[in-house]
Formats: sequence, C-alpha cells, structure tokens
Amino acid sequence: MRFIKASNYEDMSRKAANIIGAQIILKPDSVLGLATGSTPIGTYANLVKDYENGDLDFAKIISVNLDEYKGLTRDNDQSYYYFMNHHLFRHVNIDANNTHLADGTEADADKACAQFEQIIKATGGVDLQLLGLGHNGHIGFNEPSDVFMDKTFCVTLDEMTIKANQRFFASYEDVPKQAYTMGIGTIMAAKKILIVVSGEDKSSIIKEAFFGSVTPKVQASILQFHPDVTIVGDEAAFSKI
Ligand code: GLP
Repeated sequence: MRFIKASNYEDMSRKAANIIGAQIILKPDSVLGLATGSTPIGTYANLVKDYENGDLDFAKIISVNLDEYKGLTRDNDQSYYYFMNHHLFRHVNIDANNTHLADGTEADADKACAQFEQIIKATGGVDLQLLGLGHNGHIGFNEPSDVFMDKTFCVTLDEMTIKANQRFFASYEDVPKQAYTMGIGTIMAAKKILIVVSGEDKSSIIKEAFFGSVTPKVQASILQFHPDVTIVGDEAAFSKI
C-alpha cells in the first residue's frame, strides 16, 4: 500500500485528481470506479478544473459507481446519481450513456444487482476505483459484518451510517435504510484502487483498517490484500499512523 501524505483537504484533493488525471491521460478509454461522500467532492472539483483547462478529455471514459440508495429516483437530490451529475458528469464531456450506477428505483434487489454486475462485466473491468472510507471502515456500503460479500448486493445500512448520512436529509425517517453496493469481490477486482481520506475523525479507522487484522468487522481491511492501493490522506487523517 502506498501512503501519500497531503498537507490539507485541498492538497489531498489535488493529489487524488492528479492520479485520476494521469490514468485518463495514459488510457483515455479507462473504466473509472467512482465514489460519493463528502471526501471526494474536492477531487471531482479538481478534475473539472483540469477538464476546463484542456488537460483532460472524458469523451471515451466509462464510469461505474460504488453504490446507490434503494428507493431514490435519479432526480432526488440525495441520490448518488444526482451527486455524480452535480459534482462531475454535467461539468465534463463524459457521455451520459457511459455513466453507470445501480438502479435505485428497481424494487427487485436481485434484478438490480445482477443488472449492475452485468454492466461492470461488459465494461471489461474497472481500471481505477476511487474509494472513501466510512467511520466504521465501510467501503461503498459494505458494512461491518461476519463475512465479505462478493458481488453487488442489497445492504441494510448500519445505524452509524444512517446517522452519519442524516445530515444530508430532512430527518432520520427520510434517510434510506437500504442501498445497492458493489461487493468486496467487485471492488477487489479493480486493477488499481485510490482511497481518499481527510480529517482527524478518520485517523483511528485508518490505523485499524490498514495496520490491523484483515477482518470483515472492518471491511476496508481486505484492501491490505490488493496489489495496487494508493491512499491519499491529509495530515489529520494520518495523525495516528
Ligand atoms: C458513504 C458512502 C461511502 C463513503 C462514506 C464516507 O456512506 N456510501 O462510499 O466513502 O460514506 O463518506 P464521507 O467521505 O462523507 O466521510
């Protein structure tokens, strides 16, 4: 695992965007695995800037996203489709037909998950997967558990995650309690993984996930077994390692 220390959130965002940008330049038809959450927002802002400066071309890029809330429509401002469109897709020249998220409006979970796995398979596989890190060590929405899930599945969200995400919704009741997420097997199949982490509140989980035992209780710990992981974090996030 490669640890790249950034001085602050801005620096972390620029460094992460540079790594994604290099991937796009070296392989213009890359399949990018994308993530939501507050941490990658600055990374996307920098990618947009690089596009506007003429340094990046998204014309042939394909994207697949880690997860999506079950039950939210694409125009719901809390859906992850809305997030991706708001922070990245509509600002760059990516073809909307090449942007893929699990269909949150599909009530049949087996169907939604199988369809999404099929889409990932058809892309030929993810070249670079961007990840954030949950406070409980989740990646995508792979919550602490007794097992690692393999393929995309429907998850019932952890109490901690629902509470953490409540800030984006009007009330606790409004937060979706289920989501479709890539499984650990799907994430681990990416050729390269890039993790972004920021803030003191992530420092303990970074230590546990990347320097502790590999366990499904801390789902991100499995990344210790991936051959190509880069973690870009700011000083506060790296303060315990
Ligand atoms: C969310 C997302 C994750 C994200 C995580 C951390 O629930 N499903 O993909 O990495 O929480 O979010 P944040 O970056 O806001 O701390």
